[in-house]
Amino acid sequence: MAKLLIVTYPDPILSTRCAEVTRFDAELHQLLDDMYETMIKDGIGLAANQVGQSLRFFIMDVPLEGDNRTGRLEIINPRILARRGEIKYEEGCLSFPGLYENVIRAAEVDLVWQDRSGAEHSATMRGLVAICAQHEFDHLDGITFVDRLSPLKKRIALRDYTRAHRETIDDKQFRAQTKVRRPPQTVSNP
Ligand code: CO
Repeated sequence: MAKLLIVTYPDPILSTRCAEVTRFDAELHQLLDDMYETMIKDGIGLAANQVGQSLRFFIMDVPLEGDNRTGRLEIINPRILARRGEIKYEEGCLSFPGLYENVIRAAEVDLVWQDRSGAEHSATMRGLVAICAQHEFDHLDGITFVDRLSPLKKRIALRDYTRAHRETIDDKQFRAQTKVRRPPQTVSNP
């Protein structure tokens, strides 16, 4: 097992829709194991594109009451069949270190998915499990939790985040710019 690098905002893979998983092979199993090791200390959910793999799966291990947790859940090619009710919760995301925002989501979801062997499962999820599943499901569609805020709150959140992470973000944007840099225009002064 190995810890993986977590992709952070504004990497474009986070805003790109992921592709269906078609091969339930050893490579997928290794990735699932590595993602679990990467997530378990700091997070309760992690989507494949957060470790640079644009594929439709995520893992979760959500605290329940007391010391109980759901245990490791591997959710591959999920579909949300129904959403009911509303719940507000202060969410964070490993791809936005230090940013926490209140997000409104469905209180209950009916989810179907495949496990690492390709077998199908379904469940009704509630509370924090439902919140986490919706947050991770959004990642697979290229949607992050700041996209669930009002336009004004999103603008403020991204401004504050960008200020707090100026050095790394500037470096990323600089590298992005240098790839598409146009030749300098010559200006002739009179
Ligand atoms: Co996230």
